[in-house]
Amino acid sequence: MATTKTTKKTDTAKSTVKKTAAKKETQAVSLEKKKILFVASEATPFIATGGLAEVIGSLSKALAATGKFDVRVVIPLFSDIKKEYRDQFTYLGNLYVHLAWRNQYCGIFSYVKDGVTFYFIDNEFYFKRPGCYGYYDDGERFAFFSRSVLEIMPFLNFYPDVMHCHDWQAALAAIYLKTNYCFREEYQYIRALFTIHNIEYQGQYSLDLLGDLFDIYGSYQYLVEYNNSINLMKGAIECCERFSTVSPRYAEEIKDAYYAHGLDPIIRKNEFKLTGILNGIDDISYNCALDSHLFANFTPEDFSNKAVCKKELQKMLNLPQKANTPIISMVSRLVSHKGLDLVTAVIEDLLQDDVQIVILGTGDSHFEGFFKDLAYRYPDKLSANIVFNGDLSRKIYSGSDIFLMPSKSEPCGLSQMIACRYGTVPIVRETGGLYDSIKPLVNGYTFSNYNAHDMLYVIREAVANYKNKKEWAKLMYRAATTDFSWSHSAKDYEALYLDMLK
Ligand code: GLC
Repeated sequence: MATTKTTKKTDTAKSTVKKTAAKKETQAVSLEKKKILFVASEATPFIATGGLAEVIGSLSKALAATGKFDVRVVIPLFSDIKKEYRDQFTYLGNLYVHLAWRNQYCGIFSYVKDGVTFYFIDNEFYFKRPGCYGYYDDGERFAFFSRSVLEIMPFLNFYPDVMHCHDWQAALAAIYLKTNYCFREEYQYIRALFTIHNIEYQGQYSLDLLGDLFDIYGSYQYLVEYNNSINLMKGAIECCERFSTVSPRYAEEIKDAYYAHGLDPIIRKNEFKLTGILNGIDDISYNCALDSHLFANFTPEDFSNKAVCKKELQKMLNLPQKANTPIISMVSRLVSHKGLDLVTAVIEDLLQDDVQIVILGTGDSHFEGFFKDLAYRYPDKLSANIVFNGDLSRKIYSGSDIFLMPSKSEPCGLSQMIACRYGTVPIVRETGGLYDSIKPLVNGYTFSNYNAHDMLYVIREAVANYKNKKEWAKLMYRAATTDFSWSHSAKDYEALYLDMLK
């Protein structure tokens, strides 16, 4: 008996040792995880005005899924954040954040989703307003946000290895890190990566605001000063260890004045630290077999229900239910750089052909009015939906045949990838991420010059090919099965982070 007892005891002791070892191992593994903090102004599923939010939501998830990173994201607590999520946030506490002579309340909320911890910066004065941007004090709002990102680190006891800042709204986080905070030891190991999603929006302000609003010391003025103004994107590019943009082609393009909105000399000067990584999309969310927004589900192997999606879409939009008339769609912000100058120049020619055209989006009132007028004049051929509607967008992606995206410039573009996932063949201009993701006759159609008649020629070519059902089905299959998941690009970010941490 005694022997048995001893054995049991020894066994228990052994298993305790084992358990402790296992625990230590898990701790060691999690300690080894590199800590990444995304700083951005929006993220799906909480709040989205465009592609940036989708990338923040889906890339953070993909990186966390590798098991190699402790990924956290921080965004402002805008009042438009969906209530269904907001009600589930945990209040962690609050602190006061200094910004020049200001001393502002900063509440911190958190929520864990798909292995990613999201933090929300609460300040009702700055963020309890409809929408995300477009206020007279946006500079101050995002300066407060960026400053808060650095201030909550000691509170959370979380100092990332890489602070990954996205677009101008988060540029100041990288700038403060390397200026005002550079003598504080705990911040000295943080590397900054700055990603440009769109170089058009740079955060430009009068130099008078340097100290009083942005709280940047005069000795650092040279970092943010550009063309006699403060330029926050320029400042982040100068301050960060590395910067990136959302496609390899766009990384090349922004060295050129045609694409850079004035920043090309800065891009060229810092070229040695620039990388272009193509965005992916969330291939679970955009899955024609599972998407509950569709009128009917289908697969790349069996597109027969896509005809149901088309018929129901035509019915919903009051278009004649013609199965063999191709629907050409555009889901886009209605702004000039999306190629709308080309579209407005030749759309009436195109409307003479046997086609139907569906437009979804909001933007410049000039374009909104233009499409409304066309819909009035061609009620059987064109449907203009001047709204931002996620549900309708998926019904359009799945129910149309051809997707038009003739952008003048396009850092990456996600819509062409989403269209492909639903077997809708894209026609794109060869620029930025459109060039990197769509290959002529492999998974779509392309044209290279920003020219309306070049575009019209390719649209007519696609419409003619559409009549050849057998070949068209093969093209749809290739489009729908192109791999646009994060699997490749998440690896590229992983390599970039590790390279930065060498
Ligand atoms: C911006 C760009 C778009 C890109 C998106 C996500 O919205 O205009 O091309 O896909 O950011 O990176």
